[in-house]
Amino acid sequence: MTASYPATRLRRTRTAAWSRALHRETVMTSADLIWPLFVIEGKGAEEPVASLPGVSRWSIDGIVARAKEAVELGIPAIALFPNTPDAKRSEDGAEAYNSDNLMCRTIRGVRDAVGGDLGILTDVALDPYTTHGQDGLLDARGYVVNDDTVAVLVDQAVVQAEAGADIVAPSDMMDGRVHAIRMALEMGGHHNVQIMAYSAKFASAFYGPFRDAVGSGDRLKGDKKSYQLDPANGDEAMREIAFDIAEGADSVMVKPGLAYLDVIARARARFDVPIFAYQVSGEYALIEAGVAAGVGEREPLLMEKLIAFKRAGCAGILTYHAPLAARVLNG
Ligand code: PBG
Repeated sequence: MTASYPATRLRRTRTAAWSRALHRETVMTSADLIWPLFVIEGKGAEEPVASLPGVSRWSIDGIVARAKEAVELGIPAIALFPNTPDAKRSEDGAEAYNSDNLMCRTIRGVRDAVGGDLGILTDVALDPYTTHGQDGLLDARGYVVNDDTVAVLVDQAVVQAEAGADIVAPSDMMDGRVHAIRMALEMGGHHNVQIMAYSAKFASAFYGPFRDAVGSGDRLKGDKKSYQLDPANGDEAMREIAFDIAEGADSVMVKPGLAYLDVIARARARFDVPIFAYQVSGEYALIEAGVAAGVGEREPLLMEKLIAFKRAGCAGILTYHAPLAARVLNG
């Protein structure tokens, strides 16, 4: 109940900086951030991603350096994505479950360098490994088949866990994959490897620069609408989240972020599970394009978007701007 004007003047508490600080409802720290990184083969290699100005693909030594930077900045976890050499991509994406693939070697390299000081999150999906850029196996008509894909994703998650991943994050949107991966991890003794499920992952136009970064964009024919969510569907997103929780997800993700804040807020009100938002590549690129176009300064534009995720109810945010945001938050 609020008294009316002038007994209540909502501007009173906004008058001074100390008072605004005292009344601030949402707090964000560098511990709320996860930093996605792209890895390539080689030594001392850095390739800027043209569609993601300021973001590069790094060889394992470069990823290790970024991992150390994350620890120094108080960023608790990194998320790894490989750009698989062309020769190792195939119709069935078998490189995904090669225990010596680029991803697994990167996990081991980071683990050796930073020990247990940093969480390593790995993506479970076939798109960086297939010649067609889809996240799963195709039947003769080009449809992404569910159950056979799940079987392969299980193998992929297990090699990542064996290499030392702390959180496996299935981003494929197959039905039943969280349960299957959880059972395989339990049977393999990986009781404490977490699953962060990309539960509410929408068939979005905002993934373009990511697909460039992992090299799947040019290969992809058609779209991912037979498995990723229709952007019009919030109720269905709640069902996806409920299923993934029931199947054993430790945390869930909404992706992309800003266009789906209502989905985050609904999930927060409904489920007692940590929710993460992925501020995806296209969102990053739009901020950078806005800065280049003179819309405003990078830091305030970025921080306003990040606090929106926290306000909507997120436990944390995956963002390519993580190091900058951490620097801002650490003062
Ligand atoms: C692949 C995957 C995608 C992203 C994360 N994992 C792309 C896609 O589904 O096509 C997108 C991330 C981003 O755009 O930053 N399964």
